[in-house]
Amino acid sequence: MLNTEEIRKEFPILEQQIYGKPLVYLDNAATTQKPRCVTECIGHVYDTMNANVHRGVHHLSQVATEAMEDARNKVREFIGAEHSHEIIFTRGTTESINLVASSFGSMLKSGDEVIISTMEHHSNIVPWQMLRDRIGITLRIVPLKDDCSLDMDAYSGMFNGKTRLVSIAHVSNVLGITNPIKEIISIAHSHGVPVLVDGAQSTPHIKVNMQELDADFFAFSGHKLYAPTGIGVLYGKEKWLNEMPPYHGGGEMIKSVRFDKTTYNELPYKFEAGTPDYVGAIALGKAIEWIGNVGIENIAAHEQMLTQYAVEQLQKIDGIRIFGNPDGAAVSFLVGDIHPADMGAILDRLGVAIRTGHHCAQPLIDHLRIPGTVRASFAAYNTKEEVDILIKGIERAAKMFA
Ligand code: ALA
Repeated sequence: MLNTEEIRKEFPILEQQIYGKPLVYLDNAATTQKPRCVTECIGHVYDTMNANVHRGVHHLSQVATEAMEDARNKVREFIGAEHSHEIIFTRGTTESINLVASSFGSMLKSGDEVIISTMEHHSNIVPWQMLRDRIGITLRIVPLKDDCSLDMDAYSGMFNGKTRLVSIAHVSNVLGITNPIKEIISIAHSHGVPVLVDGAQSTPHIKVNMQELDADFFAFSGHKLYAPTGIGVLYGKEKWLNEMPPYHGGGEMIKSVRFDKTTYNELPYKFEAGTPDYVGAIALGKAIEWIGNVGIENIAAHEQMLTQYAVEQLQKIDGIRIFGNPDGAAVSFLVGDIHPADMGAILDRLGVAIRTGHHCAQPLIDHLRIPGTVRASFAAYNTKEEVDILIKGIERAAKMFA
């Protein structure tokens, strides 16, 4: 059991009032709030050790470099990767997927196939469309069943001699459904095809382990994980990262530069051109430490309890439609004909922050033939009382539109 009362004390932002009502922050799938230890960490790095990393012989540079590499190792431990050089710091999930689409993608040729699914976030659709437009790959889309889960039979039948990569979300950012990622990976591997997992919505909520999953690539963002914006991670198996060409060119990613030839740095630096966001990386390490103290299993149990409670309470509302069977930390719904944007505006006046619209997953919303959804998403600091406030707000909106 989480002591949410104690946890909430670490998040000053939650103390404020919105339109005279206590803030009920249920937009955690978009971004989580940051505990004080993370925001203090950022100030501490700038105040005590700021210097460019991996470059200076001077003391401060060495201290900053050590702190950044220590953070890389914390990430490695957190996701159960074998080597810390398999952890590439990026700006977030989007950049991580773009890195693979651009770099791994440059090893593909016209007619090769990449499998994604109907429930992907735009960040796991558009980079592959850009690759399609550049070199002529074919995108294969895993359909959904009536309950919005992936059609695994259809998926199993999609492989052929041209399939080069599967790229799929671990947890849907809209539906809060956890996909059977281990099975997805093992089916792909039985055809000799690597898998990129979009872990943006799983990493903050459940324990992930790269060696258990046997994922080839795994992408996630710091800002959904109680860490600052602008820092994220691409995990890649050493074998693939060594084979792949660099993504960005510049300082740090090189071994030597001559006008006739440049040689590239070793992993992970080959993929980290330019001055990295070392402050963000160190703060991400602090957030991971914070999660470790609370316990990811405790967070998972708490959020699943909140989701289940929210689903039970929502089901009592007339005209409710819940999309899929959420088992994670988010639930998407509509009430009667109330437009999601109207519902969002009413809840906002009551101090409740939720997300409405297509959630950067337009093909999924089109598939459901709806204008969008209202999505409530949970984090370690949320409470059942907050779910009750959400439900009361929805009931009030439903009355207004009756
Ligand atoms: N991907 C984030 C969300 O689902 C922004 O809200």
